[in-house]
Amino acid sequence: MADGADCSRPQFGNRFLSDPAKVFEHNAWDNVEWDSEQEKAAQQKIDENSCIKLGEDEQALFEDKAGSFWDEFYMQHQNRFFKDRHWLFTEFPELSGPETPDQGEASRMSRNNLSPGNETQPSTDSKNDSAVTEMTDNELTSSRHCVQEYPGCGKKKQILEVGCGVGNTVFPILEANNDPTLFVYCCDFSSNAINLVKEHPDYSEDRCLAFVCDITDSSFVFPFPNESLDIIILIFVLSAVHPDKMPAVICRLSKLLKPGGLILFRDYGRYDMAQLRFKKGKCLSDNFYVRGDGTRVYFFTQGFTEAI
Ligand SMILES: C[S@@+](CC[C@H](N)C(=O)[O-])C[C@H]1O[C@@H](n2cnc3c(N)ncnc32)[C@H](O)[C@@H]1O
Repeated sequence: MADGADCSRPQFGNRFLSDPAKVFEHNAWDNVEWDSEQEKAAQQKIDENSCIKLGEDEQALFEDKAGSFWDEFYMQHQNRFFKDRHWLFTEFPELSGPETPDQGEASRMSRNNLSPGNETQPSTDSKNDSAVTEMTDNELTSSRHCVQEYPGCGKKKQILEVGCGVGNTVFPILEANNDPTLFVYCCDFSSNAINLVKEHPDYSEDRCLAFVCDITDSSFVFPFPNESLDIIILIFVLSAVHPDKMPAVICRLSKLLKPGGLILFRDYGRYDMAQLRFKKGKCLSDNFYVRGDGTRVYFFTQGFTEAI
């Protein structure tokens, strides 16, 4: 089993509720369907809390100041709000192994991992790589040449986490992968969050680079070239972006992936209790809301995600 993987936690696709007394054991089950009455009741709550939409001026304010609201959030909560993502390696085994993902797959969103009801493999070396596997990891790292020098250049596997907050995903990945050929980039548009990442005792420029970046800014120049990443991670971040801007964000991020690279995505699902609990006057547009602290959240369906 790969470092960091937790064999006691079954992956999606393997969680079948057979004993109703165990209903709260997981936050999602693979064999439980809503009946139409339950769905109707949830939709009714959404119809109620979204019957009034905020006006254009307020919409513009929350869009223009989105970064400031998140910066204020981290100023207040520091690194105390989000917990380390312990489910990472069960939901995304790609993050625990030493290997790059299968280079034969087309670039795509690998999983539409929508989370109801809460916030947050190694493969053997391919035959074609047999010459490479005879080298040690360090030899491998130093043997790779970059046309253009940049942090992390020459590492075999490069991962980017977008909207990394204070590093609740990045540091578990670095901890689970004691792999000198791995380099992790992470970015967030809150400079307070990025400062907290850089102050973390496990932050090391040999293994990672944190930088401030608004992913909706099409003029941003990333500190690495296109087609250089194996994996991009989006965990509870796309939901904070205006839905009209999501396709352009995904399109831009896809260009950063090597052929066969993966986008790993997890976010809020439609009818999440967090959506049903919103009061009237907090809805910006369909399924997109603003919280009391000015941060925003969209609630996805599988169909919406596939259409992006
Ligand atoms: C709900 S938090 C999730 C943080 C982290 N991914 C985690 O799971 O702990 C959403 C994060 O996305 C960041 N974010 C929101 N919009 C962003 C944007 N346009 N560009 C970069 N980061 C953004 C926020 O600053 C915040 O840190």
